[in-house]
Amino acid sequence: MTAPQRRGLNNAVTRLWSLVSPAYDLPFLQRVYRPPHDEVIAQLRAHKSRKIADIACGTGILSDRIERELHPEAIYGVDMSEGMLNQARARSTRVQWIRCPAEQLPFDDGALDAVVTTSAFHFFHQSEALREFHRVLVPGGLVAVTALSTQRPLLQIPAANRWKPQHNASPTEMRAWFEGAGFAVTDQRRIPRPPWTWLISDLITVGTKG
Ligand SMILES: C[S@@+](CC[C@H](N)C(=O)[O-])C[C@H]1O[C@@H](n2cnc3c(N)ncnc32)[C@H](O)[C@@H]1O
Repeated sequence: MTAPQRRGLNNAVTRLWSLVSPAYDLPFLQRVYRPPHDEVIAQLRAHKSRKIADIACGTGILSDRIERELHPEAIYGVDMSEGMLNQARARSTRVQWIRCPAEQLPFDDGALDAVVTTSAFHFFHQSEALREFHRVLVPGGLVAVTALSTQRPLLQIPAANRWKPQHNASPTEMRAWFEGAGFAVTDQRRIPRPPWTWLISDLITVGTKG
């Protein structure tokens, strides 16, 4: 099996998240992260997903909410940062926590009916991660991605640049990656966030495996 492609410096990025993990759950920070969680929960509820993976789960706030609010058959919280996962393990014993990269998931083909990821996709090798999400989903499976997104991709260094630690994709790029991985896009829109974060624009893109 060939090693998955990952974004340059991604190991350093995930180590950095371990360092900041003790501050991550502070309420003023969580006002930024909660709106995407609410959107994803609504998508999962509408889809009636039963076997779900929350990729780059961080300290596990969304995975834990999925477990408590939707009572799925299985919920996996996946992340590369040991520090973030330590906090997640302390939060819940009912979520199954796994340390691995988004680009190489430890699930069989067609094992899940939903894969979600919030506020982390800009750190992934995006096309590789979406192909992996597609592989682990059943036909009809749901993918929901929220991520920081720009309107001006032409001013950006291209996504494939190997030294770039994150890439904030435009809505058009997101659609192209979804479709390239084999998903039909069913929804895409901006997520309102607190007024003091107006510079940070978040986008949700939702798709299904045909
Ligand atoms: C801003 S936090 C988001 C956490 C959580 N999803 C939330 O909404 O609060 C970003 C997370 O992405 C994780 N991450 C970054 N690149 C990753 C990768 N390639 N595979 C898995 N996790 C990754 C980091 O370790 C960090 O925990």
